Amino acid sequence: MDTDRLLRELIDFLRIPSVSTSASHNADCRAAAEWVAGELRRLGCREVQFLASGTHPVVWGVGPEVPGAPTLLVYGHYDVQPPDPLDEWTTPPFEPTVRDGKLFARGAADDKGQVFCLLKAIEAGSSRPRVNFRFLIEGEEEYGSRVLFELLRREPERTRADVVLIADMAYIAPRWPAVYTTLRGLCYAEITVRTAKSDLHSGEFGGAAPNAHEELARLLGRLKTPDGKIHIPGLYASVKRPSQLELATWKRLPFKEGEFLKHRVQAKALTGLKAYSVLERLWALPTFEIHGIMGGFTGEGAKTVIPAEATAKVSLRLVPNQRLKVVERQLAAAIRRLAPKHVHASVTFLHGADPATVKVTHPAFKVLDQAFREVVGRGTVPARAGGSIPVVPALGRGGAPVILTGIGLPDDRLHAPNEKLDVKQLWDGIRVFGRFYELLGAARM
Ligand code: BES
Ligand code: MN
Ligand code: MN
Repeated sequence: MDTDRLLRELIDFLRIPSVSTSASHNADCRAAAEWVAGELRRLGCREVQFLASGTHPVVWGVGPEVPGAPTLLVYGHYDVQPPDPLDEWTTPPFEPTVRDGKLFARGAADDKGQVFCLLKAIEAGSSRPRVNFRFLIEGEEEYGSRVLFELLRREPERTRADVVLIADMAYIAPRWPAVYTTLRGLCYAEITVRTAKSDLHSGEFGGAAPNAHEELARLLGRLKTPDGKIHIPGLYASVKRPSQLELATWKRLPFKEGEFLKHRVQAKALTGLKAYSVLERLWALPTFEIHGIMGGFTGEGAKTVIPAEATAKVSLRLVPNQRLKVVERQLAAAIRRLAPKHVHASVTFLHGADPATVKVTHPAFKVLDQAFREVVGRGTVPARAGGSIPVVPALGRGGAPVILTGIGLPDDRLHAPNEKLDVKQLWDGIRVFGRFYELLGAARM
């Protein structure tokens, strides 16, 4: 492997600030799409297209035809999350830097570095894998994948495949590759509270006028209590508890709650529903998180004002068998119920996803297991994921097994400052997927 050249090429890809959620980066998203398209052309794709290119284009590619070989749909995303807070990065997020065997950049692990592995793996072996490749690399994953949903609904035939491969996750621990059996869903919303026609002087009116921030804080405090319980009527009704057998297998995973607190969370305590193990809280229970609160005075200095409006960005993670549409209705109803009569509370939904469940019994999972076994010395353990990939349920609808795996590590700091990918994981990843393609081409399925 020409590691110097490969590292240079990945760095070029990571340098593009393809932040899908802010319109000021639209041109950068297009540049990242162009980078992917260029790679696909170089790999000899017969067809490379930008689909739904009104927004951040979905890059579609069709590899050289190999008669009789299985069709593999490779999914990934070239968009990244915003890099802020910028001053917490040791080196800037879009100036990729290797330190101590780790490549630091926004997107290094999520998901550009992994898309890079999937593409470069095609040339990793001595001959071209006997696989009919289809590529679906989108640019709105971090923003709910709206255009891709629309596309899959319009053209379900396009993405028909024997196997779907997604590398957008991590090992469960160093040297422990994983394959994921569920992803959580997501319901992202803004809750706005309005208390008066306009802001008021806090001396003239304070003591007698309602305060939007105070009302919002109380509303949020009612939605989730300190014991970790979410007070949205009906929310837990369809939550399916993992079987005793599955819970027992989690006990054997290389995961220690104390270490998770000390080295990963790096806080003073863990929170949430204490009656459940931490893994069950992360993987099999819904959450309610506040991402940010806007409104009132947050500028420099001091201003004595009673804000008339306040907005919170919040989201719920959903688990099998919850449904996004149902949870949206439940959240809206809970807000109507919990907000006092004298405030106007409203909710708007920004994006979301149903939870995903995949059975890992198809022979293709054995192929991946063997590839990991040969390259890194251990096969894949089945695990669940706390994160979401919105289109996974739709990709699974065609009946093909959806392989959810990844070559990141749990300490990659996705969405946070100083995101990184261990360089060794990158080279192993290229070898693993290269071997996977080779074995898949030879397998009878
Ligand atoms: N790669 C992640 C999803 C992920 C992270 C799965 C960790 C498993 C473990 C993906 O890019 C992501 O961040 N998805 C968003 C989706 C959302 C914005 C619709 C998420 O989970 O917040
Ligand atoms: Mn991702
Ligand atoms: Mn992400």
